Amino acid sequence: MTRPVTEWVNVTDDISIIARESGEVWFHNRSSTKGGLDPFAAPMEGPGSLGSTIGLLDGAINLAFSTIEARLARPEPTLIAYIVALVGAYHTSVDTPRNLRRAKSRFEELGRPEVAAYLEDRAREETGHDRLALKDLRALGVPGDRLVASFIPEGIKPLCKRFDDLCAEDYPIGSIGYSYCLERIAALKEDSDIDNVRALCPEGVDATRFLRSHSSLGSEAAHVDETIEFVASLPANDRIKVVQETYRSALIMAEGYNNELLKSEAQMREEMERALGEPLPYLHMTGLSGVQKHDVASARAD
Ligand SMILES: [Fe+2]
Ligand SMILES: [Fe+2]
Repeated sequence: MTRPVTEWVNVTDDISIIARESGEVWFHNRSSTKGGLDPFAAPMEGPGSLGSTIGLLDGAINLAFSTIEARLARPEPTLIAYIVALVGAYHTSVDTPRNLRRAKSRFEELGRPEVAAYLEDRAREETGHDRLALKDLRALGVPGDRLVASFIPEGIKPLCKRFDDLCAEDYPIGSIGYSYCLERIAALKEDSDIDNVRALCPEGVDATRFLRSHSSLGSEAAHVDETIEFVASLPANDRIKVVQETYRSALIMAEGYNNELLKSEAQMREEMERALGEPLPYLHMTGLSGVQKHDVASARAD
């Protein structure tokens, strides 16, 4: 009988994530074990399994988010915050295919055709997602092209930079960890999250194209499953790097969320209007009258 797989990855100076094939996951504090007695001090070397890979990847995200969870303000969703989120979605999507193909070329050079093929599939699947966010902005009467050209939410900048940097590395395997982090978090969104956004939007306006495709209803759930399967098939060294980067990307993302969520509506609006150089349509109103709804509907460009 083969022994069930146990995998582990050190994600900080003293915390390891340990996961079993059965799905069990725990965080191990290495500083609490005596030197030489810690079986998880050395990097893992064995094969991966689906159950333990899920445990490591999701464990990395949970651990990163737990560091800021307590500080997170959880305000009611607002239309302004949603517009900021759409601008962020645009920026995290617009360079994705180009970046993934850059990493793909590197793996071709390195003689790793299976990684290159995986990255090419991802690049193809992610193509056009920036346009979904632009369409949603336009549907809301927001001049999306001009807004994204002049404004990038503060909390999103480090995330975009991280992905650019990872894809340009000599051994860009971390790009898979970053992508997993974003897709996994998107795939947590459910029907009710989409309904909540619909309730914020003016009547008759569909501004949920990006959200639907980046939720449990869209392709994200399948992307997540494919990535888990692919990561589980990688050699131990690669799996370690992917999990470590999932943790770092999740930390950056959690920090960014925190920054954006702590801003008031007035601050978010002011930042966007300053960048745009003009007031955003109808956003100074708290409720939308019939006339304003008409204005929004006629401003839809797609
Ligand atoms: Fe996407
Ligand atoms: Fe995706």
